[in-house]
Amino acid sequence: MLDSITGVGGPSPEAVIRVRDVTKSFGGAAALKNVSLDVHAGEVHALMGMNGAGKSTLVKILSGAHNPDLGHIEVADRVQTQLTPRRARRLGISTVPQRRELVMSLTVAENIMLGDLPNRRSVVRWRSVADEARAALDGLGISIDVGHIAGDLTVAEQTMVEVAREVRRGGRVLILDEPTACLGADAAEQIRALVRRLRDGGVAVVYISHHIDEVLGIADRITVLRDGAVVRSGVTGDIDERGLVRDMAGRDVVSERPQRAAASRDVGLAVRDLSHGRSIDGFHVEVRKGEIVAVLGPAGDAQSRLFDLLSGRRRPDRGALCVDGRPVPLGSVSRALGSGLRCVTGDRRSLGLIPDLSIDENLLLAQDRLAGRRLHRSSALARRAAPLRDDYRVVSLAKNPPVGRLSGGNQQKVLLAKWLGTRPAACFLEDPTNGVDVAAMADIHTLIDALAREGVAVLLASSSAEEVMRLADRVIVVRGGRMVAEHEINGITRDELVATVLGGELS
Ligand SMILES: Nc1ncnc2c1ncn2[C@@H]1O[C@H](COP(=O)(O)OP(=O)(O)OP(=O)(O)O)[C@@H](O)[C@H]1O
Ligand SMILES: [Mg+2]
Repeated sequence: MLDSITGVGGPSPEAVIRVRDVTKSFGGAAALKNVSLDVHAGEVHALMGMNGAGKSTLVKILSGAHNPDLGHIEVADRVQTQLTPRRARRLGISTVPQRRELVMSLTVAENIMLGDLPNRRSVVRWRSVADEARAALDGLGISIDVGHIAGDLTVAEQTMVEVAREVRRGGRVLILDEPTACLGADAAEQIRALVRRLRDGGVAVVYISHHIDEVLGIADRITVLRDGAVVRSGVTGDIDERGLVRDMAGRDVVSERPQRAAASRDVGLAVRDLSHGRSIDGFHVEVRKGEIVAVLGPAGDAQSRLFDLLSGRRRPDRGALCVDGRPVPLGSVSRALGSGLRCVTGDRRSLGLIPDLSIDENLLLAQDRLAGRRLHRSSALARRAAPLRDDYRVVSLAKNPPVGRLSGGNQQKVLLAKWLGTRPAACFLEDPTNGVDVAAMADIHTLIDALAREGVAVLLASSSAEEVMRLADRVIVVRGGRMVAEHEINGITRDELVATVLGGELS
């Protein structure tokens, strides 16, 4: 398989970055092993691999956040020994990291212009800040008000702002670490169109995604990492989907729609007339026990508001919630939890996990809180957490590191395990497979299906039509905060579903 590595060894004049034999370890365990690859001008170079394969670590080396232990990188034909983020930027390398870096208390305009505020004699010209930021967004066809506070934006909008900031900075290399991980079909297509434009203008793009069809559609070259080593690197035309999955996972991964028995007649979760400002207007649904109902909409639409309202973090203007036939007052996190409803956020970094606590502590936090127990650090913790780790295949280099050290996809698995391990009566899941690899996605889908088989009512807010087709019994399409269509999954194709998301009407 290593025979297929191209562009390594011999001179390749158009390479803007050359990575040579890079090894990087954390606490004695290697996250990258002897990695070599070239990044060429005017090409999209995709990095693929399972969660924890080393993609983001490589990104951090390219962007100067980490230095290699062994090996080196060359930028502009010069070996860079001590690359720093500032120096990388000066060399024309722009990065949108997997862990987004907006300042949540600042406006969109301030975030886009940060570090480059137009001023005259040290006085910031705020009107120019807004104008230039607006121009950066307009240039990408993005309509977000530059006066909004970043923290109020949806995750999808935050991604767009960060991409706009990096594109505005210009440069010869743009690195995007899972830019489309939590975006709907429309926003993801916007990002891809932008990437193609930049590529055609001669920019070298490094692109990371777990969506195989997306990568096959956009990449000129693909490098696959497995356990920190390059197992394939070559032009896209030579690679098919099945081969790619096998290279990444080291095995075939089957992901078929599971066959579930019909749901019971009992309603496990009922939401009535839920309304909040303009973000949700008259949302209603009855999810039967054992049923999975999906809410699908364009990026940044009602899904994350639904999380806020159903979890009790925000009080809606009006509406009612019943779990297992019993009314649950809205606007109270503890009452929502007490009812047996578990809401899993799509925003794992700021709402879902405590990054400084270990994997095991995060896994058991919810169980112990619900049982009124204090979390003790002891060997019992490891024993109790072990089944959850196994079921969700949480992998890490160290044994039980702080959860913030895990790769993105593994953090996602910890988040799901934390909540779904508490025996919910009903659950609301927001983008549960955000950022997980193909094998983990299949595993998580199996686990969600198993929940439904056990009689849990599952409301699934997703930005992926594929996920909805795979898992749901019914789908509600939302747009502009309103329900615009509802379908049985058996009665609709994926393409029809996407068309409804993009513009169809109530049917
Ligand atoms: N600062 C760090 N300290 C300790 N271990 C780390 C650190 N950064 C990364 N790792 C480990 O290195 C390995 C590679 O992580 P990396 O984030 O590069 O994976 P990835 O391919 O980007 O995965 P994902 O698809 O989940 O984002 C993982 O096992 C991770 O736990
Ligand atoms: Mg990563």
